[in-house]
Amino acid sequence: MSLLLPDPQPTPSSTPVPTGAHRTGSPWPRSARTVGGDVRVAGVALADVAATFGTPVHVLDETEVRARARTYREHFGADGVFYAAKAFTCRALVRWLADEGLGMDVCSAGELRTALDGGLPAHRTLLHGVAKSPADLRAAMEAGVGRIVLDSPDDADLVASLLPAGARQQVLLRLVPGISAGAHPKVRTATPDQQFGTATADVDGFVDRVLAHRSLELVGLHCHLGSQITEIAPYQEAALVMAGVLARVRNRHGLVLRELDLGGGHGIAHRPGEPGLDVADLARCLRRELRDACDAHGLRVPHLSVEPGRAVVGPAGVVVYRVAVLKRTPHRTFVVVDGGMSDNPRPALYGAQYAPRLVGRVAAGAQQTVTVVGRHCETGDVLAADVPLPVDVRPGDLIAFPAAGAYHVSMASNYNAVPRPPVVAVRGGEARLLVRRETVEDLGRRDVGR
Ligand SMILES: Cc1ncc(COP(=O)(O)O)c(C=O)c1O
Repeated sequence: MSLLLPDPQPTPSSTPVPTGAHRTGSPWPRSARTVGGDVRVAGVALADVAATFGTPVHVLDETEVRARARTYREHFGADGVFYAAKAFTCRALVRWLADEGLGMDVCSAGELRTALDGGLPAHRTLLHGVAKSPADLRAAMEAGVGRIVLDSPDDADLVASLLPAGARQQVLLRLVPGISAGAHPKVRTATPDQQFGTATADVDGFVDRVLAHRSLELVGLHCHLGSQITEIAPYQEAALVMAGVLARVRNRHGLVLRELDLGGGHGIAHRPGEPGLDVADLARCLRRELRDACDAHGLRVPHLSVEPGRAVVGPAGVVVYRVAVLKRTPHRTFVVVDGGMSDNPRPALYGAQYAPRLVGRVAAGAQQTVTVVGRHCETGDVLAADVPLPVDVRPGDLIAFPAAGAYHVSMASNYNAVPRPPVVAVRGGEARLLVRRETVEDLGRRDVGR
């Protein structure tokens, strides 16, 4: 399938620009086409979306999301894929993913609520969290979530203490295999010096604490390496380490665990030509590694599952801003847009990089190097430093950032009391509102004091 590279040069007609293999991909949805000076996603011009719904606006290509979900389902099977709701969630998205046969990983009563409201049966969800609140746990137990992933021995005690008399809950143990993987230290979650999970070296004590509660049924193990991982090798290493832990649990505790969840973190291209993880290769290599490791330990191969978030929705999303101000200083040219770190904190949090482009009009051919910044009162509100944009970029122009489907809306804040942007789905030439723009009145409603 051909992919579109963001082409800053206007092209005369509707033109997909092939970029080669899926693995070194385009950050744009596969449906994206340049048409004159604009980009159409799923047949909808981004300039039209901006005109109808205002800016900033998030655009989500439904067909792209569904295709990505289907690819996971094909390669990891039924009950093998739990979409990580933290990447982005809303009721319509849940419905698409449920249609495509995915389950969902949720981290709070709020994410669970959206999953249930979207029509996902509770038994197809699993609950995570390093600090699950009693309210999160009660909501999960009342709904009947399929699995609770225990983060620590204390978590086991808390879950058991809240279960109604006579109830039994299936649980997984989240372990730390001691593998360094992920695009930035702040998104690495399998190294010893971070807060998630329990070290594999401490698994015996963890298992003992769980077994002390008859209400907890230990069915498997879990690990999550980190985010934006573009190589298969760390996952193979994780499969090897976790097979060793499964063998240890069998040998020391006489327990044969039947499930292994290797988390998410599958990387995508945020800029043209960047690598992404190939789902088919990942599934094939993981299954082989796991089978060999289990054979070596004389273990039955456990049911394998994964929890992709970014790789399902990231490349399906585009955010469109309007240029508010152009500022030339002796040091650089700033293109100041009408959003910023309140709708995309990723650059400020961990140096995420993007390839924005002008949309909505035919631009001058020549490019200049600019820095796209947001509207917020922080010098660090930089959305894209030192990127090429046309020399005639000016206030009123539209700037689109591809690969914006994951960890933008879900991480959005109200910094500077700026309302959060809407999410618009596009499909077959039509746009429809999924999440409306927040209003100043919405913000005021929570301010109940005098
Ligand atoms: C436990 C767990 N699973 C899955 C994910 C999803 O990661 P990604 O969106 O990078 O696939 C995360 C992300 O933080 C996570 O913490």
